[in-house]
Amino acid sequence: MEIKGIIFDLDGVICSTDEYHYQAWKKMADHEGIYFDRKINERLRGVSRAASLEIILEKADRQYSDEEKLEMMTKKNDLYKEFLSSMTERDVSSEVSDTLNALRAKGLKLAIGSSSQNTKLILSRIGLLDFFDGISDGTIISQSKPNPEVFIKAAGILQLRNENCFVVEDAEAGIDAAVAGGFHSIGIGSASSYDKAEYKINSFKEIIDLV
Ligand code: BG6
Ligand code: MG
Repeated sequence: MEIKGIIFDLDGVICSTDEYHYQAWKKMADHEGIYFDRKINERLRGVSRAASLEIILEKADRQYSDEEKLEMMTKKNDLYKEFLSSMTERDVSSEVSDTLNALRAKGLKLAIGSSSQNTKLILSRIGLLDFFDGISDGTIISQSKPNPEVFIKAAGILQLRNENCFVVEDAEAGIDAAVAGGFHSIGIGSASSYDKAEYKINSFKEIIDLV
């Protein structure tokens, strides 16, 4: 295994925006009277906004029109962006920022591979917009995780072969995407006990020992 680059998921890996996604969907679901809890929320990790809504609507007691679905997604995203508006550089832990700098010092190329269309807004709020060598996100893909497209595009931007990259993910869908694309994978957080993850870590700094 020769690792030359690392592709990081954003929400739940670089920063804790996964909690904001949950809070925003929860408010939207409560307003609609649709049952939603943290267990269901685990299935939303890594998947697109539209796919997330479809999972939530499995518990709805009626059908929703495409127009209503669009309204619900807009409402959720507006709520989510309210959370994002209060984010600052302090929302990146010193462990994450020290580790990113140490990996760069080792000569590795670093990229973001996120399904989120809010990726650049978040990176800009946390002061990392200009840090990465590449950003592949929800605005440039047609299929979200577990499809590997977002990671394949990230490797392309880094000009590296998939098998020379690690993908760091907190989502099972993200690990599935990494495996499907022929990447090496590291599961953290919710994916730290996922059997399909090639490496499983409990703490971000452990990435340094794997390269
Ligand atoms: C992923 C999150 O990073 O982005 C998912 O894990 C989310 O939960 C997806 O649905 C899309 O995000 P956004 O910001 O485009 O709604
Ligand atoms: Mg994630």
